[in-house]
Amino acid sequence: MRIPIIAGNWKMNKTVDEAVSLVREMRRGLNEVRSVDRVLCPPFVALAAVAELLRPTAIKLGAQNMHWEDKGAYTGEISPLMLKGLCQYVIVGHSERRQYFGETDQGVNRKTKAAFTHGLTPIVCVGESLAQHEAGQTEEWVCGQVRAALAGLSAEQVRSMIIAYEPIWAIGTGKAATGAGANAVIGLTIRGTIADLYDEDTAQAVRVQYGGSVTPANIAEFMTQPEIDGALVGGASLKASDFVDIVRITAQVKGV
Ligand code: PGA
Repeated sequence: MRIPIIAGNWKMNKTVDEAVSLVREMRRGLNEVRSVDRVLCPPFVALAAVAELLRPTAIKLGAQNMHWEDKGAYTGEISPLMLKGLCQYVIVGHSERRQYFGETDQGVNRKTKAAFTHGLTPIVCVGESLAQHEAGQTEEWVCGQVRAALAGLSAEQVRSMIIAYEPIWAIGTGKAATGAGANAVIGLTIRGTIADLYDEDTAQAVRVQYGGSVTPANIAEFMTQPEIDGALVGGASLKASDFVDIVRITAQVKGV
C-alpha cells in the first residue's frame, strides 16, 4: 500500500521569523497524524531553523529547488550537498521554475538524478498548461515530461520517488482540477507511462500527488481517488489550520 504524502510548498513566502512562527503553530497538529507522510518546503534560508523545530517530530523537510552540481561557479545556486543532512526531499521542476526560470526537461532530469545521488527524495512536478489542456494535449505532454524526467533512472529509484501532477491552470487560480480528471491523468498517463518504461509493479509503487488549488474543502475529492496518493499544497500550506486539516482529512479519507 502506498502511504499518503502531503507536502506544503511555501514558494517565496515567509521570512525566517515568520517561518518559525508558522511551524510552531502547525507542528503539534501535523505530528499527530502519523499515518500520512508530511513534508514542509519553506524557502532555503528558513530550512535550518525549521529543521531544528522539526527535529523532535516525524515531520520531514524539503527544499523547493536545487542545482544538479555538487559545487562550483554557479552564483546564487544551492547544491544537493548543501541540502543533504538538512532535508529529506526536494521539489524538482515545479512549473513556476519551468515557466519563470527557464528550467528544461533535461535540467529536471539532471536534478532528479542528483537528488538520488545524494539521498534526497525528489518530488518531480509535471503538468500541462491551459492551452494544452483545452487542445486535448494533456496526455502527450505529461507523458513526455515523465519520460524526460525519468531518463536513466532505475526502477528502484522510480519506486521511491514522488511525482506531483500539477495542471498549470489549477495552480494558484482557485480553479482546481476535478478529482476524476486528475485521477485519470495520474492513472492512465503517469502510471501508464511508467508501466511502459519499467513494469506494472513500478507504476503501482510510485507515489503520485495532485497539486493545484488544494484546500480543506476539496482535498477529500482528490483523496477518494484511488490513483492519487496525496497533494502538493501551495497557498493553503501557509495557513496552519488549513494545512493541518488537509493532512487530517487525507488520513480519514484514505482510511489510514
Ligand atoms: P496552489 O499551489 O496550491 O497555491 O495552487 C500548488 C503548487 O504550486 O504546488
